[in-house]
Amino acid sequence: MDEKKRYQEVIDLLNRYSHEYYVMDQPTVEDVVYDQLNQELLAIEERHPDWITSDSPSQRVGGEVLEGFVKVAHQTPMLSLGNAFSQEDLLNFDRQVREKVGDEREYMCELKIDGLAVSLIYENGIYKQGATRGDGTIGEDITANLRTIRSVPMKLRQPFSIEVRGEAYMPKKSFKELNEIREEEGQMLFANPRNAAAGSLRQLDTKVAAKRNLDIFLYSVADFGEMGVAKHSEGLEMLADLGLKVNKERRVCQTMEEVFAYIEEWTEKRASLDYDIDGIVLKVNDLSQQETLGNRVKTPRWSIAYKFPAEEVPTKLLDIELNVGRTGVVTPTAVLEPAFVAGTTVSRASLHNEDLIHEKDIRIGDTVVIKKAGDIIPEVIRSIPEERDGTQTEFHMPEICPTCGSELVRLEEEVALRCINPKCPAQLKEGLIHFVSRNAMNIDGLGEKVVMQLFDQQLIQDVADLYFLSKEELLKLERMGEKSVTNLLHSIEVSKENSLERLLFGLGIRHVGAKAARTLAMKFETIDRLKEAAKEELTETPDVGEIMADSVVTYFENEEVHELLNELKKAGVNMTYTGPRPSDLDEEALVFKDKTVVLTGKLEQFTRNDAKALIEQLGGNVSGSVSKKTDLVVAGSDAGSKLAKAQELGITVLSEADLLNYLPDKGGV
Ligand code: IVH
Repeated sequence: MDEKKRYQEVIDLLNRYSHEYYVMDQPTVEDVVYDQLNQELLAIEERHPDWITSDSPSQRVGGEVLEGFVKVAHQTPMLSLGNAFSQEDLLNFDRQVREKVGDEREYMCELKIDGLAVSLIYENGIYKQGATRGDGTIGEDITANLRTIRSVPMKLRQPFSIEVRGEAYMPKKSFKELNEIREEEGQMLFANPRNAAAGSLRQLDTKVAAKRNLDIFLYSVADFGEMGVAKHSEGLEMLADLGLKVNKERRVCQTMEEVFAYIEEWTEKRASLDYDIDGIVLKVNDLSQQETLGNRVKTPRWSIAYKFPAEEVPTKLLDIELNVGRTGVVTPTAVLEPAFVAGTTVSRASLHNEDLIHEKDIRIGDTVVIKKAGDIIPEVIRSIPEERDGTQTEFHMPEICPTCGSELVRLEEEVALRCINPKCPAQLKEGLIHFVSRNAMNIDGLGEKVVMQLFDQQLIQDVADLYFLSKEELLKLERMGEKSVTNLLHSIEVSKENSLERLLFGLGIRHVGAKAARTLAMKFETIDRLKEAAKEELTETPDVGEIMADSVVTYFENEEVHELLNELKKAGVNMTYTGPRPSDLDEEALVFKDKTVVLTGKLEQFTRNDAKALIEQLGGNVSGSVSKKTDLVVAGSDAGSKLAKAQELGITVLSEADLLNYLPDKGGV
């Protein structure tokens, strides 16, 4: 036979066997058959290197070393999903759907794979490009790394030109093996399969990604309409027919009872799956109904993700440590026997204050139950008193600062105890860490550990000292080589150009958060004008109340502050507002613009303050009571008279889940 023809035949056979093995999980030939064919392929390619095309199975093993990832724009934005946490949230979602499309609706229920959203572009059936989701509009080109995933076909069964979307993930088994090897080799362990998958796809050396045994499930197409199907379920079948890997556990449900049954089934069975799932995704099945429902800025109205409830895990409370924060507040922190919760190992959790510790009846040595609030922040929920053996001890806050020894005070109406010594080293350190942090001066490469070292070695005492650090001094620090020092000095230099609000926030003036810092910077434009501002002028500024105004005035009265600002000026730090003006802000992001919002009931995922801050960030004003002027009410559980009044007045009521969906990291804004 003509060798070129045989070459194509070998490729086709290998692709077929790969599909049977990796996509269908139903191999039809022994491994040796595959291996022999693969050897034949390599031999032909060695004789005819010019025949090799990017869709040859030999190209999956990697080899390319990239210099960096190129950004790619998504032609159709990659949306994310709104969240539901209860049956009630789902019923609400269903109600909203039915209001728009009528009662004749069905839902496709799918597993929510806990990996990374990716997009794959095929042109005339040939794999051309793979990208990460990024911010939904712009992602990164990971074509080469996605090619190493065996279940990603290099060629579709039909010469379609389509952009398919799905979730790349690391199977639990591969994750376990990878971490075992890393442990043996003394490398840092990955916290969970999702992080491992993300780390693997961001490898510049494609050979490394190829060894990571990643996998993929495809769950949508940028534009299903183009495929001539009427339903999402038909679209998925079509993807499977094209040779793409589609999750089998999907189910079309006609009623919410069926949806709940599906959820219950998978809540129980999730542990037995070979991959992590973090919830269930509901999608209106009919594509024309999807179109009628449309999309919000970043999330569709025709789909929602039900998130499994936070996992609760018992562990031992070994000790309670004290931390002195930037503002002098002393916080008790639980030191826990490391426990695996919702994908990561937890060994510390804030206990907030002494009152809460007693309220929850938590004693040192107790067995306690922990969870991750919003699946992110570790929290001690309660103790299990029945497990006490008499060795447990009650905790009491000390009377003096654990760092500097000055007497702690309880300010009026505060539960927290504070160290009010402005020279307390713990506070100074925290102040420095805050100054360099992301929302403040955002100095890359200056993490907590480096700041601590700089402070402990007395290379910096205040934030201005950062701008006078020399290369020689930095080189003396642990684990700081020539390259990291050069990068760090560069980041410090770049931070000098920051717009004023970053500096203002970074200085850590009490009560001045990131948002107020921005408002003040925008209004006063330079730090000198702000310094001169009278209290009345300050309170005229939106969002600035009496307390904040007093705090700003007092701050700028301080001689030491003047000296600090002079030093910063000498260093060349910008003290003028150079950020966007209101008209430049993304109006679309301000979903609560000029709306008066009332919060009521118990919120599970937010503190009241956080919910308020979020609404304000999105342009709204939060008010305490419901009246005709109220535009929206956010109701948590057990909402009482305010909710009733809102309903009476016909005011739109949002659930906590609706609010959560506006969180920037949930894809809301
Ligand atoms: S559909 C417009 N289906 O969950 C719809 N997403 O929280 C876009 N995910 O960004 C997503 N499994 O990374 C969809 N079966 C599934 C999914 C799924 C996991 C991820 C995806 C998305 C995130 C939203």
